[in-house]
Amino acid sequence: MTANALDALLSRRSTKLLRAPAPNEDELARILQAGMCAPDHGALRPWRYVLIRGEAIGRLADMALDAVKRSGDKRMTPEKEKSVREWLAAVPLVIAVAQKIEHDNPKIPEQEQLLATGASVMNVLNAVHMLGYAAFWSTGLGTYVEEVQESLGLDALDYRFLGFVAVGTLAVELPPLRRPDYREFVTEWTGVAA
Ligand SMILES: Cc1cc2nc3c(=O)[nH]c(=O)nc-3n(C[C@H](O)[C@H](O)[C@H](O)COP(=O)(O)O)c2cc1C
Repeated sequence: MTANALDALLSRRSTKLLRAPAPNEDELARILQAGMCAPDHGALRPWRYVLIRGEAIGRLADMALDAVKRSGDKRMTPEKEKSVREWLAAVPLVIAVAQKIEHDNPKIPEQEQLLATGASVMNVLNAVHMLGYAAFWSTGLGTYVEEVQESLGLDALDYRFLGFVAVGTLAVELPPLRRPDYREFVTEWTGVAA
């Protein structure tokens, strides 16, 4: 990896404040291809992506908000609905993300399939950033309402729905962000008793 690529990894960050344009077709192809380069025990390729663009994003908002309201979720107030609609109206590309569950695989437990999918999405997020765009992974918008994933063609028996990645161009300059110091999260094991 070049120093520039590492700098890109170190500067990636999420934001909901997106606008058009989305990555073009060639860029999107490279972004999604990056998602194919995740570590993947048994080459199960458990990641699935559903692209939602243009007018389909408005239809997604209608579908998901109706389903959330029908589910009885009291948090979906009229104000919340308005802000979700306004947010989505500015987003040029939404990528729904799911794990295809291989049930009862004797060698590769579901958690490893989930981890491979997460790694794939991380590659997508990094590729988006490296091409100069921005993204936000959200498990709002009815991610946990079964009707929503079913409407996206993801049968709940076979797919674990993992939310939506909104992709676009950064709409505002973001304030500086301080990341945690890795030393707080890393220990070393030597095998020698203390
Ligand atoms: C699986 C997953 C689901 C997420 N869902 C939400 C969400 O619904 N709402 C939210 O505010 N942030 C959510 N986040 C967090 C944001 O995507 C983002 O990571 C966070 O705002 C921190 O920004 P950073 O990626 O620049 O560190 C989620 C992250 C992950 C990995």
